[in-house]
Amino acid sequence: MQAVSIRNVQKQYGKVPVLKALNLDIAAGDFTVLLGASGCGKSTLLSIIAGLEDPTEGRVMIGERDVTLLPPKARNIAMVFQSYALYPTMTVEQNMSFGLRMAGQPKAEIGRRLQWAAELLQLGPYMARKPADLSGGQRQRVAIGRAIVREADIYLFDEPLSNLDAKLRAEMRMEIRKLHQRLGATMVYVTHDQVEAMTMATRIAVMRHGVVEQYDTPKAIYDQPQTLYVAGFIGSPGMNFLHGRLQQDAAGPQIVVGGQAISLNGYGFRQAPAAPLDAVLGVRPEDLSLAGTGQALLKGVAVESCELLGADTIVWLQAGEQRLALRCSPAQAPEAGSRVDLHFEVARASVFDRATEQRL
Ligand SMILES: Nc1ncnc2c1ncn2[C@@H]1O[C@H](COP(=O)(O)OP(=O)(O)OP(=O)(O)O)[C@@H](O)[C@H]1O
Ligand SMILES: [Mg+2]
Repeated sequence: MQAVSIRNVQKQYGKVPVLKALNLDIAAGDFTVLLGASGCGKSTLLSIIAGLEDPTEGRVMIGERDVTLLPPKARNIAMVFQSYALYPTMTVEQNMSFGLRMAGQPKAEIGRRLQWAAELLQLGPYMARKPADLSGGQRQRVAIGRAIVREADIYLFDEPLSNLDAKLRAEMRMEIRKLHQRLGATMVYVTHDQVEAMTMATRIAVMRHGVVEQYDTPKAIYDQPQTLYVAGFIGSPGMNFLHGRLQQDAAGPQIVVGGQAISLNGYGFRQAPAAPLDAVLGVRPEDLSLAGTGQALLKGVAVESCELLGADTIVWLQAGEQRLALRCSPAQAPEAGSRVDLHFEVARASVFDRATEQRL
């Protein structure tokens, strides 16, 4: 069942298009992360789902209901804002119960839900405090608590962890993930942090310039990016891109990069191109390795430098004009200044049409 359907939604501010005929179907129970660079329209889309903004064109469905014209109150959604938006004069307990009291919930029911949320978010000791007397992370948890005590159909989060330090972020990532599992609720979560997206989402919608470029599981987004943009956006260091000419010869498909022909036998082409074309071969740093005897796909690549990260090493290479990164264990790292041959599994690579930037 679809929990949220975005149908051809457009949003313009004056003449400026922010969302362009955007379509997205979010299944019930999914944890969908809207991921993309600053300004691509993530918050705008979330606000349109919440009813805080109206689309210029298109429809928004929640379950079977067309909610396009309904105010936020009538949508049964709960939202956590980046800014927390807590009431400064109220205690934690009053902040968290405010929505329930306004909705006229019985006292016993309010008490039961507060206790549940306080325990889950470890807010028990702070219930009588005011927001000013809490740390940033505690405030963030109160904002989340205020949302989850409501039994909403959909929970919306806009960069809720952006103001936390790295350690607390990692903890809160885990707590929100657990919360999703326990509630089994549909969640839509905005971030530009790809680690958050990869670790929390059941599905990631990668957005760019007001459209969704790919909506898929984190694994599919990482292993089978459908566009050059998605391939480059996820991963650090990013996917290596080798520009070349894709052609067929007697032995099968190959890409010629800087005068070297690399066989693409074993690559799962979606549509094998009939005529030669300019293409981009993408290989993740961890899929690139130093070639053993007879394995070399790229020969005589110059080693520029090595970056020790602790558990592994990033080796920076220069293949003609193209800079490459290779991830390996520190013991395997070659000497800077030497030349090496490289190998990778063709089946794990990505090949894109350079003109359309689509996966081939
Ligand atoms: N009220 C407005 N009037 C005009 N332009 C707006 C308005 N609100 C947003 N925009 C523009 O719409 C675009 C998308 O904004 P949005 O807030 O959705 O981006 P975002 O993807 O959430 O970015 P960030 O990661 O920086 O929060 C931006 O270019 C922004 O300047
Ligand atoms: Mg935003």
